[in-house]
Formats: sequence, structure tokens, C-alpha cells
Amino acid sequence: MAHKVTIEPLGREITVGDNQTILEACLRQGIWLPHACAHGTCGTCKVQLLEGEVQHQGATEFALMDYEREEGMALVCSAKPLTDIVLEADVDPDPEAVFYPVKDYTATVETIEEPAKGVRRFILALDNDVLEFMPGQYIQVEIPQPNKTVLRRCYSCASSPGDGSRVELQIKLTPGGRAAPYLFEELQEGSKIKFSGPYGFFFLRKAGHEPIIFLAGGTGLAPIKSMLRVATEENLPRKMTLIHGVRSQDDLFDYEFFREMEAVNPNFRYLPALSARNPEKEWDGEEGFVHEVLVRCLPSFKGHKAYLCGPPLMVDACLTTLMQGRLFEDSIYCENFFTEEDKSGPLKRSPLFKRI
Ligand SMILES: Cc1cc2nc3c(=O)[nH]c(=O)nc-3n(C[C@H](O)[C@H](O)[C@H](O)COP(=O)(O)OP(=O)(O)OC[C@H]3O[C@@H](n4cnc5c(N)ncnc54)[C@H](O)[C@@H]3O)c2cc1C
Ligand code: FES
Repeated sequence: MAHKVTIEPLGREITVGDNQTILEACLRQGIWLPHACAHGTCGTCKVQLLEGEVQHQGATEFALMDYEREEGMALVCSAKPLTDIVLEADVDPDPEAVFYPVKDYTATVETIEEPAKGVRRFILALDNDVLEFMPGQYIQVEIPQPNKTVLRRCYSCASSPGDGSRVELQIKLTPGGRAAPYLFEELQEGSKIKFSGPYGFFFLRKAGHEPIIFLAGGTGLAPIKSMLRVATEENLPRKMTLIHGVRSQDDLFDYEFFREMEAVNPNFRYLPALSARNPEKEWDGEEGFVHEVLVRCLPSFKGHKAYLCGPPLMVDACLTTLMQGRLFEDSIYCENFFTEEDKSGPLKRSPLFKRI
């Protein structure tokens, strides 16, 4: 049954459909609420309920503690209204943010490549539509299951919003993952695929003059590739360094792409890094984990902005390193690639960092 939800302090009222989360209804009806993972793991979308009751479906006990539930808090990405409700949210968006309402899309898989071991690059050609998004945002892909249910999984756009008729995704195979059979076996070039978007608040802030540090682990490169594409297309006058960490030479992808970007963009420096180099293969780049390379290659972080994306442990290690180097919360933007596994335990996060 549909319910009315009033969002304070905006005083706006929306209708949340049967089986819809409050966040999904807001984003589709033109109201932006803070969120990141969209599946009950990070706690970014916490709100205070002033009236009414919700069903806390899918919120982990770590993202929403028992005492917070008792105090009437809820995660809008997983909460479904049981009655009409009134809630209070922190609706103070970044002045640089552009809000594009979430819509549903269908696309044809134009190409599938395997740029590295266990990684797929999909180019999706949208059917008679364009996806408007900020560079760094993600979409939610529908993953049909053998029992006829449909899962949704988050994947960041690696393409530039400049051509919203084509979306590039870079997806890592998660062994045992429920999306893996569909993405890595079933989907073929020419297949139809459904998704919704855009989501998230990890986006490139173009204003300002500070040099930017981009730190990516594995396919955490995707949203950063989109940001760097835009920065290069628009000749953003900022010094930019990208450290991309992978395990070995076999896991590295987009090497030529970023070397070419270095050649056309004098503000950009590319540092690929291997944490477990294969000694039998040639390598003259950096070695070590991303946070180790960061300390070695940048003498100071002060006065920078930083964008971090990848598995939560990598993001946390980089966050700690940046903070030890006196770069703080208002200069750091993170996207954690949470999976179902992260729902099974408390998140590791620097105690100094309040925002995900
Ligand atoms: C904002 C965002 C953007 C993302 N963008 C990208 C991207 O661009 N590219 C990319 O490759 N990935 C991205 N991800 C990760 C992606 O959404 C999926 O989580 C990932 O592809 C795994 O999905 P899956 O269904 O294959 O695995 P899942 O079924 O989610 O399983 C993941 C792992 O958890 C284990 N697991 C499952 N259930 C449990 C449980 N109850 N307890 C313990 N362990 C469990 C599984 O065995 C498996 O190892 C992003 C995630 C987020 C939140
Ligand atoms: S818990 Fe709701 S967005 Fe992460």
C-alpha cells in the first residue's frame, strides 16, 4: 500500500509506492537525500522519524544500531513506510551538486571486453535515451535470478556524462557472488540490460584551485576515470595525480588510456602500482599498496583535495594515511565498493572521519 512521506525541513510531501524504499521514491520524485551505498551498509542515509512507522528492511545492525531504531532513526535506502510518515533529514547539498532525478533505462550491450583477469568492461548503448549524471555517480543494474526474482547491484559509470547515450562499466568478478553468473556468463554482446540511475554523491567538484589526488583500487578506477575524462575534456586547470593499485601485471587495465591522457593533459600524472608484482614479467612502475605509494610519491598532502574509491579496506588505509598527513574530512571524498560481505560485520573506518 502506498503511503505519504513528508520530508522536513523542506516541507515536501511525496508518495512512496508499495515495495519502494523512501530513498528511491524521493530520488525519483525530485528530492535529493544524502546516500552512498543504497543497501543499508554505510549509514550515510540516516534520518530521524518524527511521525509514523517504517519496516527496516535490509539495514545492517552496524549501520543502524538497536538504540538508534528505538530512538526513531531509519536508513531511507532500506526503510519502507508502514504508515504515513514525517521525517527530518540533513538536506544540505553541496553547492556544486547537480541533481538528476533517478529514472529507469534499458540498453543494449554493445561490447564486452576483458581488459584484465576477472574484469569485464561493458559498453551499454541506451535505447532511445541518455543518462544524465555527475562524473563519479553510479547506476543500479537489474540482475535476474534463477528463481525469477531480480537483484540490484551498484556499478559506477566510467564514461563521461558528455555522451550519455553510452555508459561504460568496469566490473570485477566476485567469486560466489550472486551477480556473477548473469554478468560473466549470461550477458552477451547484443543482450538487453535494465538499470536505474544516477545514484550517489561521489562526484568531481570542479571549483577551486587545489591539486587533486585520485586513489583507486581495482575497479574503483571506474568513477575516477569518469572524473578524469571530464577534467581533461574541460581543461580543468588543476594538478591531478592518479594512483591506481592492483595486484600484479595481469590485473592492470586502462594503462594505455591513462598514458595517453598524460600525453594530452600536462596537469595529469599517472602512477599505476602493483602490490604483488610478478617477478617474471616486466615492470618499471610503482610497487606497494596505494597508501604506501601515496606516502612515497607525494611529499605533502596539505592543500590538496582527494577522491578515494575501491574496496573498503583500501579506502580506509588511504583515509588514515591522508589524515596522518594532515588532510582532513572536508577535503576528502570517498566511495566504498561495499558488497554483501560487508553487511556481515562492522565497518572499519578512521575514527576521525564522520562522513563516508
Ligand atoms: C556505490 C557502489 C558502486 C560500485 N561500483 C562498482 C563498480 O563500478 N565495479 C565493480 O566491480 N563493483 C562495484 N561495486 C560492487 C558491486 O555493487 C557488487 O557488490 C559486486 O559486484 C559483488 O556483487 P555480487 O552480487 O557478484 O556479489 P554478492 O552476492 O553481493 O557477494 C559478494 C561477496 O560476499 C559474500 N557474501 C554474500 N552474502 C554474504 C553474507 N551474508 N555474509 C558474508 N559474506 C557474504 C559472497 O560470497 C561474495 O564473496 C560497487 C558497490 C557500490 C556500493
Ligand atoms: S546505508 Fe543507506 S546509503 Fe548506505
